[in-house]
Amino acid sequence: MLAFLFAATLGLCYCSSDNSTEVILDRPRLSGPSEALDGTVISIECALPSYPRNQTILLQLYKEGNHDKLLGEFSVLHKGNASIPIFVRPKHEGNLECVAKAQGNPNIRPTVSNSHYLRVIEPVFGVKIDIVSDATEFFEGAKLELLCQHSVGSHVSFEWRLNGQPVSRSRYRDAHLVINRTSPEDSGFYTCVATNNFNKTQVFSANSSVFIRVKELVSNPEISFEVIKEDSHNYSAAVTCRSAKGTPPVTFSLYNRTQLLTNTTTEDREATLKLPLVLGVNADRLQCRANNGDRTVYSQWIPIEVVPVSGPVTMTYDYDMGENYAVIGLRFYCKAAAGSQPQYRWFLNETLLNDSGSFYYVVNRPPEQSILLLSVGRRSAGTYRCEVRDSFDDSSAISSKRLFVSKEVLNRLPVAAVAAVFGSFAFLVVMVSACCGFVMLFRRRECGIKPRPDLEMITTVPSCEDELDSSDFGEDYDLINAARDAEFDQEESFGS
Ligand SMILES: *[C@@H]1O[C@H](CO)[C@@H](O)[C@H](O)[C@H]1NC(C)=O
Ligand SMILES: *[C@@H]1O[C@H](CO)[C@@H](O)[C@H](O)[C@H]1NC(C)=O
Ligand SMILES: *[C@@H]1O[C@H](CO)[C@@H](O)[C@H](O)[C@H]1NC(C)=O
Ligand SMILES: *[C@@H]1O[C@H](CO)[C@@H](O)[C@H](O)[C@H]1NC(C)=O
Ligand SMILES: *[C@@H]1O[C@H](CO)[C@@H](O)[C@H](O)[C@H]1NC(C)=O
Ligand SMILES: *[C@@H]1O[C@H](CO)[C@@H](O)[C@H](O)[C@H]1NC(C)=O
Ligand SMILES: *[C@@H]1O[C@H](CO)[C@@H](O)[C@H](O)[C@H]1NC(C)=O
Ligand SMILES: *[C@@H]1O[C@H](CO)[C@@H](O)[C@H](O)[C@H]1NC(C)=O
Repeated sequence: MLAFLFAATLGLCYCSSDNSTEVILDRPRLSGPSEALDGTVISIECALPSYPRNQTILLQLYKEGNHDKLLGEFSVLHKGNASIPIFVRPKHEGNLECVAKAQGNPNIRPTVSNSHYLRVIEPVFGVKIDIVSDATEFFEGAKLELLCQHSVGSHVSFEWRLNGQPVSRSRYRDAHLVINRTSPEDSGFYTCVATNNFNKTQVFSANSSVFIRVKELVSNPEISFEVIKEDSHNYSAAVTCRSAKGTPPVTFSLYNRTQLLTNTTTEDREATLKLPLVLGVNADRLQCRANNGDRTVYSQWIPIEVVPVSGPVTMTYDYDMGENYAVIGLRFYCKAAAGSQPQYRWFLNETLLNDSGSFYYVVNRPPEQSILLLSVGRRSAGTYRCEVRDSFDDSSAISSKRLFVSKEVLNRLPVAAVAAVFGSFAFLVVMVSACCGFVMLFRRRECGIKPRPDLEMITTVPSCEDELDSSDFGEDYDLINAARDAEFDQEESFGS
């Protein structure tokens, strides 16, 4: 019964299709390149797996879902592929589909193919940088925003370069470059390189560059001055204003408490401005101000006061001892009673000592003093003195007394004094004061008798100096007496 029903239905079906002669079209298959270059001609294949007999089939190409605009068509009879040629334009990009229709037979329902995506490559062209942040020249800290634009091109990728070097990816996304807080290092030629390619084999590229200058803000200037002797009566102060950083040109101005004294604009970060100067007069306090187009920055105030060097020039010393309590190092200190711009010079046997030599080293601490560090040895024996003069005036030199360091230097020191040297300096001061008192007392009582040799090292300390009689060496001599030759010789190799 069931089998009969099935057979009957089949038969019915057969009869009905036979009656209407209706043909059902297969679904066409669409294929072709997935990528095409703009302006070229490509063919898109559309084929039916089987063709109804004696029926012309029209195959038409459309954009998916848009059957108003026909992109191309082809008709086939019986069999074979339809090769639909299209002249590629940007509008062809997207999902394509092909529709099969029986020509002249509206009874046969059209069928639609699968969709096929076509990328259309349009070579990039006409690249231009849009400076979104407006200025090409600005101060550090400001924002830089650039946008790379192109008039023609599809599937374009962008790369930014600064002076030919790739810019970090974190600073741009595609065509858009943003640097929130620029620094002077961000200056240079920004190039946007726009590229696209066809089939990975044909690469198209276009670029554009713009020069961006990120100016450095001028830093707080340092102020210093030098005295210049113009002639025997006139002096001037050459005030130097110097900024460590800042894009030139920089305008430096010099102010006293009440007004602008002078200004100058330089292509440098330094300017020297001259002012007349009267020596010894408590003069103005001055300040440098610097500006390179943004804000003004200020130096400290400095007093322009010049005190000429005046005597007496004193030379004092202290010393270091080696293991055997032998003096192995001496430090001479040179000081003038007054002088704001002193220049110190040291002499051994009237020969000028340079900044350093095999057995000595000069440490200048202007204006207070200059220190001569000496390694005691055979080569350092001789007569020492120092000289102070105004740095701006050679003719003002004043010398200290001479001090003879005998060839086989000297020194037997009381053990207590040794302890003081290695111990606290304060104790030494106490020792010195005590011994001074002792020496004065001693000399007052026993006039004309020389102090004991073992005290001489101590008595040549500043406060005692003037009391010392070094008549053996003439008026302006001080004396460091020789003591134990043996000990000295042992230490002689030190530092030499
Ligand atoms: C095909 O069509 C032609 C005329 O269009 C006709 O002569 C021929 O008999 C047809 N053949 C078939 C198999 O239907
Ligand atoms: C720059 O600043 C914007 C907000 O002004 C922020 O969204 C962005 O993340 C910043 N970019 C960088 C790299 O810091
Ligand atoms: C794409 O490139 C391949 C080689 O990589 C080449 O064989 C092929 O012909 C190219 N196609 C077109 C359309 O140029
Ligand atoms: C920019 O384009 C020019 C030609 O227009 C080319 O010579 C140069 O190499 C390109 N620069 C870059 C970085 O691609
Ligand atoms: C130097 O001072 C004298 C007066 O003391 C003056 O006549 C002269 O013009 C000055 N010279 C300079 C170069 O300032
Ligand atoms: C500032 O300089 C001017 C001109 O040299 C001078 O007249 C004025 O007294 C100076 N002011 C001070 C406070 O020194
Ligand atoms: C520099 O000085 C001149 C007058 O000497 C003045 O006109 C000018 O404004 C000053 N410039 C600055 C930046 O102070
Ligand atoms: C300095 O002169 C003394 C003699 O007055 C001499 O013994 C010593 O070697 C000389 N020193 C130098 C470094 O020439």
